[in-house]
Amino acid sequence: MSELRSKDVGALDMSEARMELARLAEELAGANRAYHTQDAPDLADADYDALKRRNADIEARFPELKRDDSPSDQVGGPLAEGFSKITHEVRMLSLGNAFEDGDVAEFDGRIRKYLGLREDAALQYTAEPKIDGLSLSLRYEGGNLVYAATRGDGAVGENVTANARMIDNIPQKLDGAPDVLEVRGEVYMSHTDFAALNTRQEARGGKTFANPRNAAAGSLRQLDAEITKSRPLEFFAYAWGALSAPLAETQMGAIERLAELGFQTNPLTQLCDGPDALIAHYQSIDAQRATLGYDIDGVVYKVNDLTLQGRLGFRSTTPRWAIAHKFAAELAWTRLEAIEIQVGRTGALSPVARLQPVTVGGVVVSNATLHNEDYISGRDAKGNPIRDGKDIREGDWVQVYRAGDVIPKVADVDLSKRANGATPYVFPTLCPECQSDAVREEGDAVRRCSGGLICPAQAVEKLKHFVSRGAFDIEGLGAKQVEAFYHDDQLPIKEPADIFSLKERDAAQLAKLKNRDGWGDKSAGNLFDAIDEKRKIPVNRVLFALGLRHVGESASNLLANHYTSWSALETSMIEAADPESAAWEELNGIDGVGKVMASSVVMAFAQGAERASIDRLIAQLDVLDMPRRDTSSSPVAGKTVVFTGTLEKMTRAEAKARAESLGAKVSGSVSAKTDILVAGPGAGSKAKKAADLGIETMDENGWLALIGAA
Ligand code: IVH
Repeated sequence: MSELRSKDVGALDMSEARMELARLAEELAGANRAYHTQDAPDLADADYDALKRRNADIEARFPELKRDDSPSDQVGGPLAEGFSKITHEVRMLSLGNAFEDGDVAEFDGRIRKYLGLREDAALQYTAEPKIDGLSLSLRYEGGNLVYAATRGDGAVGENVTANARMIDNIPQKLDGAPDVLEVRGEVYMSHTDFAALNTRQEARGGKTFANPRNAAAGSLRQLDAEITKSRPLEFFAYAWGALSAPLAETQMGAIERLAELGFQTNPLTQLCDGPDALIAHYQSIDAQRATLGYDIDGVVYKVNDLTLQGRLGFRSTTPRWAIAHKFAAELAWTRLEAIEIQVGRTGALSPVARLQPVTVGGVVVSNATLHNEDYISGRDAKGNPIRDGKDIREGDWVQVYRAGDVIPKVADVDLSKRANGATPYVFPTLCPECQSDAVREEGDAVRRCSGGLICPAQAVEKLKHFVSRGAFDIEGLGAKQVEAFYHDDQLPIKEPADIFSLKERDAAQLAKLKNRDGWGDKSAGNLFDAIDEKRKIPVNRVLFALGLRHVGESASNLLANHYTSWSALETSMIEAADPESAAWEELNGIDGVGKVMASSVVMAFAQGAERASIDRLIAQLDVLDMPRRDTSSSPVAGKTVVFTGTLEKMTRAEAKARAESLGAKVSGSVSAKTDILVAGPGAGSKAKKAADLGIETMDENGWLALIGAA
């Protein structure tokens, strides 16, 4: 072990790296427990930091080996166990991101389209700094602070009430507040307090923090609130959750109300008339960034009118009415040592830059993405030059940048430092893993291995995705283990269905898992139990776990919520293979489903190797229907509704989103299955067909009255 540890990170091979990451995770977890939970550090700080650095260096070199429980992702210590959980009455969401000015104009355009506002109609936004801390929800009842919870996974957070009470600028009592008020905002530490804390920690031989955000998180998430008390934290209020009465009619008004109630709100919050004004304020905040005294990582824009916010509502994890415009990334120059090709789960050949390690924004980077072959050759997807047409070659001096948690990218190249004999990079046309043709379809920026499931890289990546967190998340069966099983001769896991036959195959064999290196009677038994536990699983998770192209977590939720059961989904997808079918139209009519995603799901259900593999999996599972949303009080739950003609009080998208949130199905065409036709002026053949079929027809006002929104 010491032999490995002394080995230069650059000299480790993959299996050594994997072993060492496992050991580092264990050792650092032990050190964290000792430090945070038992308050008895067993490792000198410098040693702790060296271990963490080594862990980060190995991960940077072998990103594919990064563990689910990687110490790099852990802020503070493993405290969660000690905190009770609080279910947020209103979920705590995150924000979509904008990086360029054009994204801001698009954001405004999307909102106008959704609301049916003309380009010249007035639409105000607020713009305020995005604080780089951690979000906190404070619940007040009858003016008293009753609890404080971290965001957690958005639905359930940690109860940190005792700690929040230690933060000076969080009021314990409010005068004149609504009876129920959840105030949301960011806990952060100022630069001066951060520096002073680190000096104190150093003096008493304690652990120092890498940045103010980590310091704030580590300080708030303390089991011992006395420690929190000794750490100078502050709170900015910028949003709210549950409310028994509205705070105001506008975002700005609500923020002013929170300020009147005694919360610190950000003085740089400003009203803006449109994208130009937003960008001007963004630039002004960026210019003040260094002198603010606390870390910010962008500017948040929010629709000012709260009625409009209400109409816009939410996508699965982000509001439609707000966006975070991030600051430009941090940059560094280094040498590109080699270009390697990784094959992903959908067969995409991704070029990765192996770099001479360099520090970018406080993190050592030794790998960066090169996107695709056009990017390397200096062209965009349309063939237009990027970087003035400069291509990227092995041995080049390149600029690397990273923005937030995003994977580092190679941005630019310095031609003056290019070696004389450097030759242009030739992108492979054969899959480096299985030698199948790597083809690039017309209009696709990505070259893909055509080997499908015979390509070991694709199969392994699919399996890793299958067992990942949002998917099957089987305890004891992570990326590392499925990869090992994939290569196992006696108990192979070549596809998801094999996971569920593992126990049976193990029982039937002499070479049992429990006799293997790293496995015992108990751990093998635990694994089989953990696998059995996941046989019952809801539709959305199964769909997501399949790892179909263009079908991520939110798409899976959309589809699962729409079809609700596996059999309904399957039947519809099979029918939808006919582009003339009602099923194809229904699929494309789901808000958030586009043609590309629709085709991808339909293709997976078409006959072929992929479908056969899905069938083998489903045969092993008990797929649970999606829980019906609580639409018990909704008069339109379960009804199929068609909108036609012009709607005057809302756009089509909005009408649809609203109807769906009330449990109705919205379809684009009238059939015998239609329950209600909402016909605005100009309704034509659909109204006639509905009349012929005797379907209940109403106008927009009638519909609004029916759903109680008139
Ligand atoms: S508004 C419904 N405003 O950024 C979303 N968030 O990346 C409400 N954050 O989870 C969030 N400053 O922790 C909002 N001025 C600000 C913010 C802010 C920081 C954080 C917040 C959120 C994350 C999303």
